[in-house]
Amino acid sequence: MTRRLARPVGITATGQHYPERVYTNDDLAQFMDTNDEWIRTRTGISQRRWVEPGQGASDLAAPALQMALDRRGMKADELDAIIIATVTPDTFFPSTACRVQEKLGATKAYGFDLSAACSGFLYALTTGAALVASGTHQKVAVVGVDIMSSIINKEDRTTAVLFGDGAGAVILEAVPEGGILDFEHFIDGSGGCHLFMPAGGSARPASAETVAAKEHFVVQHGQDVFKKAVREMAEISRLMLDRNQVSPDDLKLFVPHQANLRIMDAAAKRLELAEGRMMVNINEFANTTAATIPTALHQAQEQGRLGKGDTVVLSAFGAGFTWGAVLLKWSC
Ligand code: UT7
Repeated sequence: MTRRLARPVGITATGQHYPERVYTNDDLAQFMDTNDEWIRTRTGISQRRWVEPGQGASDLAAPALQMALDRRGMKADELDAIIIATVTPDTFFPSTACRVQEKLGATKAYGFDLSAACSGFLYALTTGAALVASGTHQKVAVVGVDIMSSIINKEDRTTAVLFGDGAGAVILEAVPEGGILDFEHFIDGSGGCHLFMPAGGSARPASAETVAAKEHFVVQHGQDVFKKAVREMAEISRLMLDRNQVSPDDLKLFVPHQANLRIMDAAAKRLELAEGRMMVNINEFANTTAATIPTALHQAQEQGRLGKGDTVVLSAFGAGFTWGAVLLKWSC
């Protein structure tokens, strides 16, 4: 059974924002035991951007959303709601949505943060689309943003090389036809032990002991996450095509979460995707968690790889475990 919205809702504009400072694999090899060849061949990553100390998620999210608004010719005070997908909010509270609302002067919007790690943008996208489809909201902003450099242990080569910082934003509105055609989301909490941050939440609040034990950083069992990610991203992407009778030839672009090029290639193979139809930005920006898909969409639009009416599949897998996929016809 497909999950069809009550009326067509589409992405009518996109935006993005990255920190300026680029760190190449060779830069990282200066201060940790790694090398360019390992990182490129195992992950597809060549470089990433990391913020300067003191920059928070809202500092990237606000300009990304402003870019999307400008492209749509829309004022911030026209927005009804702002949903921010992130696991690295400026603070636990107020939410990053409150900070972005204030920075942009989105005076009529309310908003909230949504936590689903690498699947966060897709969860937020379909949540925002449901608000518009219900008819209670007209213009909803969805932003995926993460400052992963704030939660990686730069002495741990198994995680530090994988992540970058960035923000991508989209505007959702009712469209005459097309837009989001179907979606599916899953969680499997039994995978929580393979990708998590041990301390800093209510179960294990920050203390001198948690800081000394470096428990405020990402912990990942790479192989366990890899195996599940390969299987689920491939399956759920294929599900979007099969249950909507879309043939691989009709798929203009596949935009997967950018965690590892090998995981993305496996999903593309399962889709029987023609050469050049997968969007890749992991090489330049690494894994920016909630920001990978909206930034990839923005870049695809910029590069002329997406046009109105094109069929697109988005899919993601991440901590939780969480995973999901969206089938849509491009609307801008
Ligand atoms: O976005 C959220 C979801 N996350 C993911 O989807 C990530 C899924 N996992 C992965 O992408 C991969 O498992 C990694 C990229 C994290 C690791 O790749 P791998 O091929 O699974 O490598 P591995 O963990 O099996 O490590 C192989 C070797 C080890 O050395 P030994 O034990 O064979 O001597 C590691 O110590 O590579 C070593 N290694 C490194 N060497 C150089 C691990 N990290 C590095 C490094 N540089 N940065």
